[in-house]
Amino acid sequence: MKRAFEKIPNSWYEQIINLLAERVVVVDRNGIIIYINEGYCEFIGTTVEEAVNRPVQDVIENSRMHIVAKTGQTELAALQSINGSEMIANRFPLFENGEIVGALGSVMFRNPEEWQMYKTKIQNLVEELNYYQARAQRDLQSKYNFNDLIGDSPAFLSVKKLAQRISGSNSSVLLIGESGTGKELFAHAIHHNSMRASGPFVAINCSSIPEHLLESELFGYEDGAFTGAKKGGKKGQFEMANKGTLFLDEIGDMPLSMQSKLLRVLQEKEIYRVGGQKSISVDVRIIAATHRDLEKMVKKGDFRQDLYYRLNVIKIEIPPLRQRGEDIILISNWLLKKLGTKFYRNSIELSPEVAVRLTQHSWPGNIRELENVLERSINVLDGKVIKLPHLPLYLRDQEADITEEAKINVHDEHQPANIHELSPSLSVQPLKEAVVAAEKQAMQRALAVAKGNKLKAAKLLGISKTSFYDKCKLYSIK
Ligand SMILES: Nc1ncnc2c1ncn2[C@@H]1O[C@H](COP(=O)(O)OP(=O)(O)OP(=O)(O)O)[C@@H](O)[C@H]1O
Ligand SMILES: [Mg+2]
Repeated sequence: MKRAFEKIPNSWYEQIINLLAERVVVVDRNGIIIYINEGYCEFIGTTVEEAVNRPVQDVIENSRMHIVAKTGQTELAALQSINGSEMIANRFPLFENGEIVGALGSVMFRNPEEWQMYKTKIQNLVEELNYYQARAQRDLQSKYNFNDLIGDSPAFLSVKKLAQRISGSNSSVLLIGESGTGKELFAHAIHHNSMRASGPFVAINCSSIPEHLLESELFGYEDGAFTGAKKGGKKGQFEMANKGTLFLDEIGDMPLSMQSKLLRVLQEKEIYRVGGQKSISVDVRIIAATHRDLEKMVKKGDFRQDLYYRLNVIKIEIPPLRQRGEDIILISNWLLKKLGTKFYRNSIELSPEVAVRLTQHSWPGNIRELENVLERSINVLDGKVIKLPHLPLYLRDQEADITEEAKINVHDEHQPANIHELSPSLSVQPLKEAVVAAEKQAMQRALAVAKGNKLKAAKLLGISKTSFYDKCKLYSIK
């Protein structure tokens, strides 16, 4: 290091110092100026000769150099007012053999124009920050409404109608449904359709937050509540959701200890921050969701019965996709439009074979699975029509699926002698016919599963008894 400096000619030093920070001052340990450069002198309206050997506080307005030369404490980016402008100063103590010998000071901006330039830059950053803050605030609003909930089947429409009807109420809502059935979408839509729509929509996934953090996440904490806690404390999701809706997703995964705390809040309508003494009242509507069987959990002691009753004021059960086969094509077309926009691939269609195949599948992953299948198909597609080879293997392989079906029905005496009677003709071309074939097949499957009980079969399909009978007539199903 020392050797590197030796190579610099003495005559360069002043220039280098000036370029690094045009305004530089060095004081001894008594705060007497022993060096000050011309740039600094020019700025404060003095000369080097006049300034040197004088106490720094007599020469530079609001200087703290004499203090740093005593305390040995560095002061970085300190605001200092000189000539009516706020300058940004850095002050460093200088040491020799471990003893303070003086201090070095520099002003970060070399002229008012430069300061102006930085100020503009900072101004831009502040504006950007405000923009993102506003956006984060917007993220606390619901993103979907009831128009985004696609489906025409009676089973789906009745659930949607119920959700619409109860949106305005302040009662808790419990959304039950398999994974991917649209629980989150429903929660957004209910909030959007409520009197709280202009308030925040705050979503929290109870299964993804470690148990020990859940309490502070929900209720916030006070300053110094635990090591690592943010200074000044932090608001919890309940406070954030005040005057709005709090969506407690995967409520079935909430640990029992937290369940009691949640119950207390729902009853008292007030919270205590972790480490806090005073209660804070909150006005929050709760929408909870789970794919678990809460009643079973209550019986097993894994979910508090009293909390279950509190949440279960309005229960909305979203039917799985396999119980509303009529919606599959409708939702697929809607998803294709959505994905088309995302991938800049417009007017993509399903081939009739694919339409049949999609209506045959049981969709354990529901609409999320359907969305993934279509996204994958678009990615492997060159033209505009999704055909069988574009589907993932497990959907393409119809033989395998039929064998699967044979396995399911193996103990079923009502099952037709030849399982292949159930398989549709894949040579069907027009979409209308494809859908008819799929519908017919879905009905036959439902009848087989319901062991010939038409009422049960209609229920499985999510359609009314009358429309099931009408369709039986239409398709000559006995
Ligand atoms: N009725 C619907 N119409 C159109 N798209 C839907 C519908 N229901 C769900 N979706 C879409 O399906 C996907 C899954 O929905 P969502 O995340 O709401 O399901 P979920 O029930 O919360 O699932 P999980 O239990 O796995 O969290 C989302 O991309 C959503 O946009
Ligand atoms: Mg979800």
